[in-house]
Amino acid sequence: MCGIVGYVGSRPATAIVIDGLQHLEYRGYDSAGIAVLQDGAIHVRRDAGKLSNLIKLLAQQPIDGHLALGHTRWATHGKPNQQNAHPHSDASGEIVVVQNGIVENYRELRESLQAEGIDFRSETDTEVIVHLLALNYSAAGGLAEAVRKTLGYLKGPSAIVAMTSREPDRLVAARLGNAGGVAIGLGSGETFVASDIPAILEHTRRMIFLEDGQYAVITPAGAQIATLDGQPVAAEIHDIPWNPVSAAKGEYRHFMQKEIFEQARSITDTMRGRVDFDSGEMILEQLRLSRERARSFDRIVTVACGTSAYAGLVGEFLLEHIARIPTDVDYASEFRYRDPIIDERTLLLAITQSGETVDTLAAVEEARNKGAFVVSIVNAIGSQAARISDGVITMRCGPEIGVASTKAFTASVVDQYLLALALAQARDSIGPAHRRRLVDDLAHLPRLMGQVLDQSPAGNAVYLDLAERFHGYRNFLFLGRGINYPIALEGALKLKEISYIHAEGYPAGEMKHGPIALIDREMPVVAIAVQDSVYDKMISQIEQVKARHGIVIAIATEGDDFIASKADHVITVPKAPSLLTPVLSVLPLQRLAYEIAVWRGADVDQPRNLAKSVTVE
Ligand code: M6R
Repeated sequence: MCGIVGYVGSRPATAIVIDGLQHLEYRGYDSAGIAVLQDGAIHVRRDAGKLSNLIKLLAQQPIDGHLALGHTRWATHGKPNQQNAHPHSDASGEIVVVQNGIVENYRELRESLQAEGIDFRSETDTEVIVHLLALNYSAAGGLAEAVRKTLGYLKGPSAIVAMTSREPDRLVAARLGNAGGVAIGLGSGETFVASDIPAILEHTRRMIFLEDGQYAVITPAGAQIATLDGQPVAAEIHDIPWNPVSAAKGEYRHFMQKEIFEQARSITDTMRGRVDFDSGEMILEQLRLSRERARSFDRIVTVACGTSAYAGLVGEFLLEHIARIPTDVDYASEFRYRDPIIDERTLLLAITQSGETVDTLAAVEEARNKGAFVVSIVNAIGSQAARISDGVITMRCGPEIGVASTKAFTASVVDQYLLALALAQARDSIGPAHRRRLVDDLAHLPRLMGQVLDQSPAGNAVYLDLAERFHGYRNFLFLGRGINYPIALEGALKLKEISYIHAEGYPAGEMKHGPIALIDREMPVVAIAVQDSVYDKMISQIEQVKARHGIVIAIATEGDDFIASKADHVITVPKAPSLLTPVLSVLPLQRLAYEIAVWRGADVDQPRNLAKSVTVE
């Protein structure tokens, strides 16, 4: 989704803002622009397409100064062209604004502004904001007040940053609803603002995050925060632990590739300090859940979107098996539209890598209003989901840049395993010996993952060969059963989003109720058939596919010689306790999707039409 970067200080601002926008490219966008205060006037450069187009334009028509505001736009209202790109300017060119989110009442506002004689130069909803700022500016007596007043007219979620040539020492940022984050980075004699941490992380780790209903006056000396009704706020300054190097591609060809291979390490980080392997106890301080409250829940409802929802489906098995609490998983985008039955005995679990997915945030709010205790599993520190939850478990994966989620999936499954153990501990749902065994199993996980993530020539060859053979197919079916059924969904999602091959994931037992009609020589079927309690049933599904001339790629347990006689191709994963098999079986599917997409020449890290964090409904 859209990205914002702003700078005020003494260094040349254009390079800082462009570099910040480059760090946000992963979010997905289709045009970009920058406004810079130079020699007392604001100069704007904008272009459709990739940031490289804007960079070329800046090379031909350079601008620079010490106050600048940039934006990458993911089109909602109006085509992704130059006129619709942000920043948008008022008629005088003295005020500019960038926005993330949607002005839901923009039509009425536009009509009334047009009735006052204002000309619109774009098809966007955003342009109404800059004209309202201009109208309010003089009466309000400055940009900050004009922003405050203008936001009073807007309906729908918006994060905005504005600047004016009349106040050359400041940017004004504001946040209304859940339109994505606003992070303010505090430097020494310079201050940064961005929609997402990686954009400014190389300059500072000291950050303030705007809450819903707050605005900030950002000057080289820092930021003054207040609520939109004018109350000053003593904002907390967060120290962000991410290392900028972890947001760089390093030796890898794509961020997605790097993130796939990071997973053994990120899972170690996810467990570090939280699992006492001596006592078998969980230490989840940010969970903020008393034993009494933990014992009060009669159900868990998980809300999430996309990959996070599939992680939730794996978690359903973990929470029911380990904590013995009935668990349902809901698409966050559907949750609030069916008047869900939620009360104070419900633990509402939100899973969101970005912590800014608008549907997930709306589901959390709905559940909070109904009295649920909300726990969120998030990766982005300081994100809105983390801030509005009663308890938090972070994924500790570092920034996930590839639009296709990989390391956040495995980390959120492991976080749910930890949550299940913590709940089991508080509720005495399983005996100490059982709990102990489950904790011991975890200790081996990073090593087993490392084996599946073998990057030696032989380890890579399996995937390169399959990619060469299968990249031209137009459809894939993924089948799994039991706790590996969600892995079939996730495998299909990975393949379709980065390679644009149509892929469907199905619970294997459902195949004969419909999808079997599709099977022929042109339909590769990826079957997750690791040796667990449903292994024999998966073998019989494979036989049914083979009987119809389908091609089977099996994900099987190492040492399973039998499956080789049934499947056309076999990728193995090490033997593991059944509750942890999804964390291993998903890895070959990520690798396979990646190599197929590379073969097809796809833009792996920024697939068409997709955004990293979906901040609009
Ligand atoms: O940031 P979130 O975990 O809330 O994002 C949810 C989905 O938008 C996300 O998982 C999406 O499905 C990914 N592109 C999947 O790879």
